[in-house]
Amino acid sequence: MNESFDLDGFVDALRHAALQEDAPKALRRLMDEAVSDSDLMAAAIPDFGEDLILFEDDTVSIWYCHFTPGMTVPPHDHQMSAVIGVFRGQERNDFFERAPDGGLQKSAEVVLGAGDALSIGPSAIHAVTCTSATPCNGIHVYTGRLTTVTRSLFDPKTGRAIPFDDANYEALMRPDG
Ligand SMILES: [Fe+2]
Repeated sequence: MNESFDLDGFVDALRHAALQEDAPKALRRLMDEAVSDSDLMAAAIPDFGEDLILFEDDTVSIWYCHFTPGMTVPPHDHQMSAVIGVFRGQERNDFFERAPDGGLQKSAEVVLGAGDALSIGPSAIHAVTCTSATPCNGIHVYTGRLTTVTRSLFDPKTGRAIPFDDANYEALMRPDG
């Protein structure tokens, strides 16, 4: 059991893990250990109220993520491996596959609460809904420079892929259901 949690120290450890040969596995191991005491993390990390990039270089992107109750962020891909760890609230991850007609079909659903971690492959498409009454906060780690990679958002109704940028992201944000 950890006795304290230090966000800067965790970011440093994640940066180091990202340089390992099997980075997704090394990152997941660290994330599992951190969220195993999610109360400690929640006490140490304030609710910043919005997404924050804690660190980014060519090997790793480390984000503090904030999801608003009842809201769904649009389906998107990452084009690199990702590890998610939740330390406050609860989120539902809906995973999608491309349907034969070019649209999106839901293929899986994973609910993550405080204390849970999840690894996502580079080609996965997911939407995230905050299902708790209070915001859901997590640390998300990606095995590359997320802000400059070319990736997509998907219109949930038509499945049409559009470029991932802030304007399109905001435009596709929806209340759950
Ligand atoms: Fe994502």
